[in-house]
Amino acid sequence: MSKRLRGAVVGYGFISGKGHVPAYLERAQEKYKGKGDVEIVAIADICEARRNLVHENLPGARVYSDYKVLLEKESGNLDFIDISTPPCDHAAIAHAAFDKGLHVLCEKPLTTTLDEAASLLEHAKRAKRVLFPCHNYKHAPVVKAIREIIDSGRIGRVRSVTLNTYRNTHAKGVTEWKTHWRREKKYSGGGIAMDHGSHSFYLTFEWMKAYPVLVTAKMSNLEPGKYDTEDNFTTVLTFPNGLAHAHLSWTAGIRKVIYTIQGERGAITVDDDDLQLAIITETSGPDVAQGAVKWDVEKRSIASNWMDASHVSWFNSLFDQFGDAIQRDEFVGKEAQEAYRCIEIISTAYASAAEGCREMPLKANTLFA
Ligand SMILES: NC(=O)c1ccc[n+]([C@@H]2O[C@H](COP(=O)([O-])OP(=O)(O)OC[C@H]3O[C@@H](n4cnc5c(N)ncnc54)[C@H](O)[C@@H]3O)[C@@H](O)[C@H]2O)c1
Repeated sequence: MSKRLRGAVVGYGFISGKGHVPAYLERAQEKYKGKGDVEIVAIADICEARRNLVHENLPGARVYSDYKVLLEKESGNLDFIDISTPPCDHAAIAHAAFDKGLHVLCEKPLTTTLDEAASLLEHAKRAKRVLFPCHNYKHAPVVKAIREIIDSGRIGRVRSVTLNTYRNTHAKGVTEWKTHWRREKKYSGGGIAMDHGSHSFYLTFEWMKAYPVLVTAKMSNLEPGKYDTEDNFTTVLTFPNGLAHAHLSWTAGIRKVIYTIQGERGAITVDDDDLQLAIITETSGPDVAQGAVKWDVEKRSIASNWMDASHVSWFNSLFDQFGDAIQRDEFVGKEAQEAYRCIEIISTAYASAAEGCREMPLKANTLFA
């Protein structure tokens, strides 16, 4: 990326206050890779207390209470909009930004319905502006290490994966606004599957090197009188080359991710920062029982800051990709298509769970052949 990009952020809550904006400020400095290639010129937030914090933390930025007014007044100065509001408003803000000729970086989930996702992809193509989702788990150091091992061929082709995400509470928004919005469907569009499902699903695409064709899911809500979104969700995705199982919990005893990736000749196990790589060395011999194997094990610890939910340290690697997409006029690239696929999986999984885990087809392959 070479041109200095001028952006505005809509929603100054947890992810933008602790993640995006600090990363932009670091990146704005000349010493950042010798470039300083971004500038945040304006921020909109509907909450006065959050707007007051913008004045403190980003004194140079112009502040608005309504994103429509921001777009009206600022779009001539801008290259992109960063959408960091709850999901219920992502689609409307992104459409308004495309109408003003701006590129869009949008937090996950891209939208809360598949129709909205389809309409955003179509609008990006028509407006010739980049639509890019914040699929930031791809930028975690330990996830980059998994990618390198799979691409090296050391474990052979991947044939099944499991992704367990444990949280001891639902993720919360800033206290100045609606801290528990993730438990209210009208803001979130759903519970833990809508909130975290995208992260699990785009990782399965990368590890299986394919896209799923069928989904079945089950979910529960342990506080139905209080909240109308699920707090536990489990799903199996059928790929042409194997299965993926994702389990997400907001009622766990710990906070961590545990991933396993099983290949033809070995396996990767990740427990937060700890990565174990097992490579089969012997599949038969005098001292192993029939069907047993021997393997060598490599253990590494790759600091990935999992406990920092803002994932600020992953953001600029993601922003590099967004900038590259802008430079290449990649309006609806792989990342945007994968965001659509994630929304299709989440919405179809909800339909499956509502029908007693009935297995249901995923049709996005026919769109992005
Ligand atoms: N990628 C990740 O790892 C990650 C982590 C956390 C949150 N997120 C995503 O970021 C988004 C925001 O989540 P959060 O945790 O920061 O929530 P939050 O509640 O902390 O912040 C939301 C902010 O948006 C403001 N807001 C609400 N509606 C608005 C509107 N229409 N216009 C302008 N401002 C508006 C609120 O006042 C609040 O300040 C969600 O989509 C969430 O899924 C992503």
